[in-house]
Amino acid sequence: MVSAMTKHAKLIAGNWKMNGGLNANEALLRALLQGAGGARCDVAVCVPAPYFSQVQSLLAGSPIALGAQDISAHAQGAYTGEQSAAMLKEFGVRYAIVGHSERRQYHFETDDVVASKAEAALANGITPIVCVGETLAQRDAGQTEEVVKRQLAAVIHVNGHCISEIVVAYEPVWAIGTGKTATPEQAQAVHAVLRAQLHHAASEHAPGIRILYGGSMNAANAAELLAQADIDGGLIGGASLKAPDFLQIIAAVA
Ligand code: 13P
Repeated sequence: MVSAMTKHAKLIAGNWKMNGGLNANEALLRALLQGAGGARCDVAVCVPAPYFSQVQSLLAGSPIALGAQDISAHAQGAYTGEQSAAMLKEFGVRYAIVGHSERRQYHFETDDVVASKAEAALANGITPIVCVGETLAQRDAGQTEEVVKRQLAAVIHVNGHCISEIVVAYEPVWAIGTGKTATPEQAQAVHAVLRAQLHHAASEHAPGIRILYGGSMNAANAAELLAQADIDGGLIGGASLKAPDFLQIIAAVA
């Protein structure tokens, strides 16, 4: 049966994490702008907040979108160190990563906080990239499905009415920055679980919601991962900092 919902183009998003500098950013973005012309997918770079202004001007008029790595759940006020969705909007931010495992681990973000951050993004027209993923101990204990479903359920619970607007990223914690990638079969299996959960929440929209894979995706393994039925793009850490690598991942989208 053909779905009534048109599928979005795949999305390749770079997560620079806490890397970069004015000179390095400019060199990287100029190389990306030169090389990403014929991209068959949507492309975004999620950069550290101090560089929003710089990156906004360098990307102006280009098809590469600007993203943030986090967003406050609050609208404004006494929240030292946080950036609101409205502030992000002023710099043309289109995507915000929420619930990255590094934020869950080092900043103790709970499923409820992640759901509120997604809500703040959606209320301001920013697409949240909601990260879910299990640790190695959880995988070894056979808890992968239970963990990712719990993490996504919290976001669906708060944002069910506009769930079609989110992007999901499956990032197994044991694959992040380790060079250990989930096999295409391992990743596809979890993506299928997430797709079924989205289907349960919003059947007509589920086929169109993009589910990205993240965790040591690189130029060599991207094509095989991206060929899986439920892998709709990638969230790339280390390899997004090197223009040739990131461009090769973009080119791997069939
Ligand atoms: P790496 O690609 O460096 O493993 O990082 C993945 C990630 O955490 C993207 O958000």
